[in-house]
Amino acid sequence: FPVEDIRNFSIIAHVDHGKSTLADRLLELTGTIEKTTNNKQVLDKLQVERERGITVKAQTASLFYSFGGKQYLLNLIDTPGHVDFSYEVSRSLSACQGVLLVVDANEGIQAQTVANFFLAFEAQLSVIPVINKIDLKNADPERVEKQIEKVFDIPSEECIKISAKLGTNVESVLHAVIERIPPPKVHRNNPLKALVFDSTFDQYRGVIANVALFDGMVSKGDKIVSAHTLKTYEVNEVGILVPNEQSTHKLYAGQVGYLIAGMKTVTEAQIGDTLYLHKHPVEPLPGFKSAKPMVFAGMYPIDQSEYNNLKSAIEKLTLNDSSVTVHRDSSLALGAGWRLGFLGLLHMEVFNQRLEQEYNASVILTTPTVPYKAVLASAKLIKVVKYLIPLCMSTNRELHKGVKVAEKLYFLKKMCNLLGSIMAIISSSFLLASFDYEDAGYQTAELVKMDILLNGNIVEELTTVVHKDKAYSVGKTICERLKDSLPRQLFEIAIQASIGSKVIARETVKAYRKNVLAKCYGGDITRKMKLLKRQAEGKKKLRKIGNIEVPKDAFIKVLKTQ
Ligand code: GTP
Repeated sequence: FPVEDIRNFSIIAHVDHGKSTLADRLLELTGTIEKTTNNKQVLDKLQVERERGITVKAQTASLFYSFGGKQYLLNLIDTPGHVDFSYEVSRSLSACQGVLLVVDANEGIQAQTVANFFLAFEAQLSVIPVINKIDLKNADPERVEKQIEKVFDIPSEECIKISAKLGTNVESVLHAVIERIPPPKVHRNNPLKALVFDSTFDQYRGVIANVALFDGMVSKGDKIVSAHTLKTYEVNEVGILVPNEQSTHKLYAGQVGYLIAGMKTVTEAQIGDTLYLHKHPVEPLPGFKSAKPMVFAGMYPIDQSEYNNLKSAIEKLTLNDSSVTVHRDSSLALGAGWRLGFLGLLHMEVFNQRLEQEYNASVILTTPTVPYKAVLASAKLIKVVKYLIPLCMSTNRELHKGVKVAEKLYFLKKMCNLLGSIMAIISSSFLLASFDYEDAGYQTAELVKMDILLNGNIVEELTTVVHKDKAYSVGKTICERLKDSLPRQLFEIAIQASIGSKVIARETVKAYRKNVLAKCYGGDITRKMKLLKRQAEGKKKLRKIGNIEVPKDAFIKVLKTQ
């Protein structure tokens, strides 16, 4: 394909505005997939995406399309809409020259529409606004057109109005891609320069790297070098994604495709890496800014014998999602594990679900926290803490002050002491609001160290640092959960939550006399021995706090999310 006949573009939008549905129609119109009524979000391949109805992973597809007597190669990258996955969007944009900015004809511009527009704008990409869902009863495409003109300074005539669901006017989107997005600026005669913009791990074939070729070409059998590790590999397979892998033996500058080169371990395939020919070293591409985790949680195998399996599952999944940070950690109660950093709560849930579904792992995920720094002064904790937005949303009463950008639409970007810079789009009815946020850095806050005691003895595993205002409710919940999960013993157990010497919550487990032999009326001695042995084994899994035996299960119930 001559470079001038190639277009590389992404579909970006706020969550649920119809990116994946539009991608389905584009795949059908170009004959990439068969036109049936069953095509629903075909590029959302992961089980978690299908179950939740959201895209969490950008997907690439090469489409062939004839227009004006010419064949074009259109490389489409479908991206996620939720704020937690915007890292996926910014990476995808590095392989593109233009975007389709999809906006719901009823909801209009939302926070992620604005955030994603600016990602594309900063990358100097051509933006084609597409107003979707014009078939909806409450659709008001003219109002949305005006919003687009006002907020993004794009003339309303440039908006394409479609229904991705019904297929109305979708063909003109393809025409606009060809007419308004420039072909990639590349040099085919220069030596190979390929950007790894995504990668996945295949159990049998190893690492599959998604690449965008900026210069030169790559063929099966070529010796290539990773600029990151300086390791040399032989290319086993190259090809395009239609949307499944199709080997083509060669890829040329301007194309987007995949490459398999015997990379076996996760550390060998860094996203953002530059690949070049062994005989022609080149200056590496700038790569990507690394993602900054906002939410941290402990992850432990349910059974320690599963540690190594879980370790390898986490390594493989982080290759597919490099925005997750992993550090080894251990807990007295839960054993060896990791502290993982995520971009948000949804991101954390999706990662956990993918581990379970794609790697058959069962894990304990502890209650998530945001990063904090604590400075210890005398007996009291002086704290510096960073909050995430949902924790403070309810206390922020100033959000209604904003700039009116269109009828019933307000655009806010303000600094507030706890939240940092917030961008919010709020409709005047307040029925609809969406938020995006930037990092606010660390702010001083009133935190306290809270201990949990069993009959006066501190359970170190359960000591936490909490906000002063939340201490009571958190303490109460932990005491209640412990009460529910501690087996009754021969004596009464007092469960207390305390800050220093002050008790803030208390529950009691009543005494209970347990005799494993009670049900064996005389007789069978071997059965008695078996029961005693089983009780002894059960006890091994207990931890003693003072004279109280706490089963591991109780810790799991208390430390687990929910
Ligand atoms: P994320 O990937 O999660 O950000 O969502 P998305 O932007 O890819 O949206 P998706 O294509 O999954 O569509 C969201 C919902 O809107 C689905 O229920 C679609 O069936 C529906 N939808 C998409 N396009 C149209 C349309 O043109 N008209 C109507 N009525 N519904 C649509």
